[in-house]
Amino acid sequence: MAVDIAVIPVAGRGTRLLPVAKSQPKEMLPVGRKPVVQYVVEELARCGVGRVLFVTGPGKTAIENHFDTDAELIAHLRETGKEDLLEELAYEWANIEYYYTRQRQQLGLGHAVLCAQGVVGQQPFVVALGDSIIGLHAQSRVVRLMVDQFEETGADAVIALEEVPAEEVVRYGIAVPRGGAAQVFELADIIEKPAVGEVDSTLAVAARYVFSPRIFDCLHQTKPGKNGEIQLTDAIRMLVQQGRKVLGVRLAEGQTRFDIGNFQSYFEAFVDFALADPHCGEALREHLCHRLETTDQG
Ligand code: UTP
Repeated sequence: MAVDIAVIPVAGRGTRLLPVAKSQPKEMLPVGRKPVVQYVVEELARCGVGRVLFVTGPGKTAIENHFDTDAELIAHLRETGKEDLLEELAYEWANIEYYYTRQRQQLGLGHAVLCAQGVVGQQPFVVALGDSIIGLHAQSRVVRLMVDQFEETGADAVIALEEVPAEEVVRYGIAVPRGGAAQVFELADIIEKPAVGEVDSTLAVAARYVFSPRIFDCLHQTKPGKNGEIQLTDAIRMLVQQGRKVLGVRLAEGQTRFDIGNFQSYFEAFVDFALADPHCGEALREHLCHRLETTDQG
């Protein structure tokens, strides 16, 4: 069955981004000119996804508003001679159907994915985290590659992975390859937030997944793990332990994962996107160079 639907979990509290994420979704934070989640949807659309299911939670209605067609705003732009700005709203007409469901309690990413089961049913599906962009300006084709691998190999899961520094493995789900780790490889194990030295791998899960519906059976059996949350990584581990085929796909060079879930990586992402902005990037580069050369911080 062709993979046509993507689940975007956006129900997390975003406590690492307080106070900014207190009353607005972190997935709506701007990175350059667009909110994070718009890049995620544009990336998925380019990879052939036709339906998007958001798993939302308290305080996340701004996401639904963002993907609605705003007839009043369009009329206003026309009436006031600002037709040129209409292309900024072109994403509203993207050939995508949007669906929404709620995660009624924030019990973790695995639980958020389980909340999608009623809509997804027996279809294979993509999961794309709503707080992570892959590659500058959503150009990444990694989800297409993952879907192709999924369909060709009959795997039950395909996971995007990126190398991280050894001391950072404690922050991620870490995949252990079976044999050598080529660009696409089979997983021998996957562990959520291992201690430094616990695993002989630095390949971290990178916010994109393709699953067969078997993942739902595993999620139903998954007990709360690290941080007391139902961890998606633990359910994937169960698939591996059942002898199911689980593949890893490395992000290609230049396909950086921009995680906006903490302030440091959010600031870095914003600067990278702003520097790449066709209108303001060059002026910003000059400004930053000048700033860095002078000792005056004012
Ligand atoms: P995070 O792992 O960053 O968790 O979520 P969080 O709860 O949002 O953030 P902190 O740790 O409190 O700062 C990764 C993605 O999974 C979603 C988030 O919205 C984010 O897009 N998520 C997380 C859910 O949908 N539900 C959850 O219970 C947890």
